[in-house]
Order: sequence, then C-alpha cells, then structure tokens
Amino acid sequence: NSPEKGKVTWKAPSNIALVKYWGKRPVQIPANPSISFTLDSCATTTSVSFEKKEDRESFSFDLFFEGKPKDDFKPKILTFLERIEKYLPFLKEYHFIIETSNSFPHSSGIASSASGMAALSLCLMDIEKQLDPALDEASFYAKASHLARLGSGSACRSIKGSLVQWGEHKNIPNSSDVCGIEYPFEVNPVFKSYCDTILLVHKGQKQVSSTVGHQLMHGHPYAENRFKQAFDNLDKLKPILADGNLEEFIKLVESEALTLHAMMMTSMPYFMLMKPDTLQIINKIWAYREATKTPVCFTLDAGANVHLLYPEDVKEKVLDFIKDTLAEHCENGQYIHDQVGEGAIKI
Ligand code: PMV
Repeated sequence: NSPEKGKVTWKAPSNIALVKYWGKRPVQIPANPSISFTLDSCATTTSVSFEKKEDRESFSFDLFFEGKPKDDFKPKILTFLERIEKYLPFLKEYHFIIETSNSFPHSSGIASSASGMAALSLCLMDIEKQLDPALDEASFYAKASHLARLGSGSACRSIKGSLVQWGEHKNIPNSSDVCGIEYPFEVNPVFKSYCDTILLVHKGQKQVSSTVGHQLMHGHPYAENRFKQAFDNLDKLKPILADGNLEEFIKLVESEALTLHAMMMTSMPYFMLMKPDTLQIINKIWAYREATKTPVCFTLDAGANVHLLYPEDVKEKVLDFIKDTLAEHCENGQYIHDQVGEGAIKI
C-alpha cells in the first residue's frame, strides 16, 4: 500500500559551527565532536516529487536547481542515494524530481551542502513516513540527521535548532557519531537570538574542497592534539553557554576558527583559504571590540567569508560598524544578516 506518487517539500537552514568538525573516518564519522548554531534565513528549500516506476534495478531522478536542470550535481546525489539505500529500501521503486533553491545568492561562497543535504534527507524521510506511518517524531528526525550526515557531515546539524551537537562525547548524554542532537544542557537566552552577519569576502570557487581538507587530517602532525582540544572545548562551553559568559564565549569561538585554518596551513599539502580582506576584517573586529567593549566576535568556515557573531541587543551598532567599516572588504560590499533559528520545517 505504498503511494503511487506524491510531492513533499522541506526547508532546511544552514548552520555555523562554534567548535569545528575537521577530520573524519569512513563513513562520515567525525574525528572530534562539534557544535553549531542553526541559522534562520540562510536555507535551502527542496521539493521531491515521486512516482512509481516499472524497473527497480536502478536509481532514477531529475534535478533542478533554481528552476534549471543541474546535471553537474547529479553524481553527488547519486553517490548519496547509493550510500543511503540500505536505510531507505524504497529508493529504486520511484522516479524522483528534485527541485531545490537557496535563499542566499547563488555562488555567494556560502556552502549550501549542509542545508541542501538536510532538506533532501527530510524529503526522503517524509516519503519513508508515508510508507511507515508508525514512525515516531524523534526517530524521524534522528534518522533524517543520520541520512544528512551521509550526504555532507555537517548537514546532520541542520535538521534541528537552535544549538546542535554532533559526535560522541563522554560528558554529553545521547551524543552520537551518526547524528546531531539538540544540545541537552542549559542555554542562556542570550544565545537563543544570537546574530550572525556573514561578510561575503570572496565568492569564487574554493581552492580546496572540505572533503580533501578532512582527508589531510590523516597523518597531520597536530591532529591528535587538535581532536583533544575540540573535546575539551565542548566541556568548556557548557558553563559558558549556561551563564551567557560572552567574554569566554568569544575567546573559545575565535580560537576554534583560527585553529581550523591553522590545520589547513600546517597540513601537507598546505593551503590557505583566508584572503587579505579576511585578515583586515579580523583586525578591525579586534580593534572595535577593544575600543567599544561590544561583545562581537568572528568565526570562519572552510573559506574566506567571515561570520560576525553578536547578541541581539547590540545589533544596531554592529550593523552600523559593518556598514561603515567592514563592508568595504566584502565583494561588491555584500553581506547577509541572519540569526539563530529553530531548525528545518515542512512546507
Ligand atoms: O560538512 P563538511 O564535510 O563540508 O565539513 C564542514 C566543516 C566545517 O564547515 C569547516 C566545520 C564545521 O564543523 O561545520
């Protein structure tokens, strides 16, 4: 009694890590635990139309990105479907039409793999739910996160909000290497409405993919210490998040961002994803924080863009600071304002 055809749509947000995931073992098992803020408006919306087909021997799908066929994404999706087939045995029974679009500008340098893989996983889980109506909500979301992880590691943190932790940690109950969990400890309200303004420093293609970056942590001279540091930072973050201790939050978050990039600079081969404007922005943030005591800090993904993190009550003055001082370092003066969000939604 499986449905002949249908259509499902989910919107999943992007996320920004506070403690970074960098290094993995097969299959997408993180070398260290990580934690991220789920974002709100930076998101991917994906629809999956499905219709029963005759042959059940192979996968069959069409892919549209922002309304246009997108054949160069197909191999990535095919690899993903092959990887998750053992968890979703119905996949070869249907022909799928996958239509996806991002809320942020195309090739803005904002990675869409996390939100994209999360949205697609939720759509496929929605179909699974139609086949198995007894599936409870907690299992639905845990499995969606599990599937998303198999598409792109950090995507498992883009299902729920507002703080998601991923990777087994002895002091975090229910923490798991296979899926993200909602952070189980007390979180000060200041972090529930935290702002993230993304400064688009460089919109071009990244010099090194995150897949290659993760691999370079194998045999990396500092890997073991770095992994240990991430475990320790999750312990340190617990009282910081509970108390809303912004001074300590800033130190930990900025150190994590610079450590991520230090790992890239000290791998073999080595590489650097920060641009001169990235460094100028960081120096200006430090000077501004020193002069005004405003609790604003930065973090970085695997790219040149800078995420400015700050509490909502200083939003007006930080936006002025960005407009007056930092925007000149952004490509075409572009930046995107976002804040902590509540996770993916069904449309
Ligand atoms: O999910 P991936 O494999 O693209 O890795 C992303 C890694 C970082 O964004 C650099 C850090 C993180 O934890 O999100």
